[in-house]
Amino acid sequence: MDLGLAGKSVIVTGGGSHIGRAIVLGLAAEGAHVTVGDIDPEQAGKVAETANSAGPGDVQVVLTDVSRLDQAENLVRSARDAQGRVDVLINNAGWWDPPAFFTQTDPEVWQKVIQVNYGGVLNCTRAVLETMIEQNKGAIVSLSSDASRQGEPRQAVYSGVKAAINGFMKTIAKENGRFGIRCNAICPGFTVPQSGDEIGSTSLWVNKDELYSEDQLAKIAHNMPLRKLGKARDVANAVLFLSSDEAAGHITGQVLSVSGGYSMVG
Ligand SMILES: NC(=O)c1ccc[n+]([C@@H]2O[C@H](COP(=O)([O-])OP(=O)(O)OC[C@H]3O[C@@H](n4cnc5c(N)ncnc54)[C@H](O)[C@@H]3O)[C@@H](O)[C@H]2O)c1
Repeated sequence: MDLGLAGKSVIVTGGGSHIGRAIVLGLAAEGAHVTVGDIDPEQAGKVAETANSAGPGDVQVVLTDVSRLDQAENLVRSARDAQGRVDVLINNAGWWDPPAFFTQTDPEVWQKVIQVNYGGVLNCTRAVLETMIEQNKGAIVSLSSDASRQGEPRQAVYSGVKAAINGFMKTIAKENGRFGIRCNAICPGFTVPQSGDEIGSTSLWVNKDELYSEDQLAKIAHNMPLRKLGKARDVANAVLFLSSDEAAGHITGQVLSVSGGYSMVG
């Protein structure tokens, strides 16, 4: 199926690493014009180089901290200046603290989890809506997590913040459907990078080997209905689907798990 993403102007936050990287490469392969906002310009630059040499789409990078509204506004302005419009916003940038029981977490760290994950979605969505309302068209996809649906022990603040994203996206979908704007959330389950090239120095996965032994990863996979862990491409495919008006033009306000069946809702 042709997703109709060729020529579309798409913003991807956190597009330098892992899932964001797979989203950017997937969009560029469809022929989209992608603007990446990331705090890691070096890693995002590598992704842009890969995408631009492969075509048919193209990628520009704008140094952006999504927890700052002024920087989110600058990101949207850059995409709009380059392409004259913004068709899709992918709120992918995220951050979590090392797993610990809530009673052992630091309130200062809660603030960072809230500001990057939820603040980032609020800032970028606020910054893009005026343009999308003017266009009478747009799609917003936010990366949530199955932690929002299940509750994830040792990730209490992150689980709560991702649940806030689900509620926010449903509300924005209801408020802006009349402007032809679709808003959905995707909940990845445990999704592990396949190689060091896929992640940057700011990635959550930099210390993967310290956090999870091969044995632990195999046990986690065994507990999934599909008996495997997710790959970045699995999540990217769902993001591209929800970004596409051709494929998902009648879908809004939904929360979709891409997690090998870890959570089942309905
Ligand atoms: N990988 C998983 O298992 C998993 C599971 C559930 C949900 N998610 C969600 O998917 C998204 C992507 O996760 P990932 O595993 O690819 O993470 P990652 O750490 O590999 O990549 C995150 C990217 O976001 C960027 N970033 C971080 N803070 C930023 C900020 N303030 N402003 C702009 N960019 C910022 C980083 O530089 C990096 O490029 C996140 O929202 C995460 O919460 C991931």
